[in-house]
Amino acid sequence: MLFKNLPDQAPFQLFEQYYQDAENNNQPIAEAGCISSVDKDGKPHSRFVNFKYFFEDNLIFFSSYSSNKAEDFKLNQNVAINFWWSNTNVQIRLEGQISKCSVKFSDEHFYGREIGKNIAAIVSNQSREIESYEVLEAKYEKIKSDIEEGRIDEIRPEDWGGFQISVSYFEFWEANNDRLNYRECYSLEQGEWRKFFLQS
Ligand SMILES: Cc1cc2nc3c(=O)[nH]c(=O)nc-3n(C[C@H](O)[C@H](O)[C@H](O)COP(=O)(O)O)c2cc1C
Repeated sequence: MLFKNLPDQAPFQLFEQYYQDAENNNQPIAEAGCISSVDKDGKPHSRFVNFKYFFEDNLIFFSSYSSNKAEDFKLNQNVAINFWWSNTNVQIRLEGQISKCSVKFSDEHFYGREIGKNIAAIVSNQSREIESYEVLEAKYEKIKSDIEEGRIDEIRPEDWGGFQISVSYFEFWEANNDRLNYRECYSLEQGEWRKFFLQS
């Protein structure tokens, strides 16, 4: 995850410190966080995504705008995110409001990625059913050779791009002896960050 123009308020700075600590302790895929959404029937759904940036007060990941999660975000912008880093035994819970990133931001990220990932983004109709995995593989190989042989261009699909979560709640949790765990929280209230502690 890249950190850019982070606010100098405590929870953002703390998040970056905990993240760097996880990386320094060789945490695999520290950028993977579980994001939960709620669908039109009020049912929650969770899945991991890779958060590529913490830009200003926004956590950012990339995905399909036609996926199941994107449908949930259209109806309910409230999301919850959870990171757990086993190498440091730290959990960080965040909550906030989700929206789409600008076209410019999505373009910059898309055109900076490896071609293989972009082909998958072009090919895959994320969250939709398909007859078999082999059919998806065949679609991938077809588009890959079309791009490599110049029959079609590697263009960002309009329905693929960034999602940004403007964070309004952080909980930093550290495991401690006898389950007397440490829970330091920050909640954005009338524009100010309130710091408090929760019992474990
Ligand atoms: C570690 C990890 C990272 C992932 N990163 C992403 C990601 O950045 N973007 C994405 O769309 N899906 C990512 N996925 C796949 C999602 O978990 C999920 O299968 C996909 O987004 C479809 O979810 P949906 O049907 O709820 O929309 C990742 C999965 C794992 C296990």
